[in-house]
Amino acid sequence: MIILDYKSAKKNIERIILSNQDVLSNVVNFLYENFDHYNWVGIYIVKGNNLVLGPWKGKQATEHTKIPIDKGICGSAAASGKTEIVADVNTDNRYLSCFISTKSEIVVPIKKDKKVLGEIDIDSDKRNAFSKKDKVFLENLADMLRQHIH
Ligand code: SME
Repeated sequence: MIILDYKSAKKNIERIILSNQDVLSNVVNFLYENFDHYNWVGIYIVKGNNLVLGPWKGKQATEHTKIPIDKGICGSAAASGKTEIVADVNTDNRYLSCFISTKSEIVVPIKKDKKVLGEIDIDSDKRNAFSKKDKVFLENLADMLRQHIH
């Protein structure tokens, strides 16, 4: 099933969150299955000076299961607390390569007040796959996930 309608996706996600069961993995699976341009979806959790991979969904596992906060696009977003959109990962020298097929990436911090607790990381096999719509949608989702990061 492909939902490119962010409003109905949001409604489905609200339902997952209200169920209060395996929220992070169910949200990750939902995103992966319902958006064509989301080809790898994962949630990293901040632990000390590192980002540690939590639930993820994609064709392949990543070798980057622990990323120091000063490394990669993931680290940049965690350090600044701001969403990173990279339209072409091959032109960004911060990029830590996971999959040969990845062309673009979005990383959205999950914050409580100003503190970054974790982040949503999505890779796409399409160049320039992420728009303002994805940013708004995922930032809203990050707010909803805040209380599920432990
Ligand atoms: N590309 C990320 C590393 C995580 S993988 O995309 C799953 C980065 O540059 O931080």
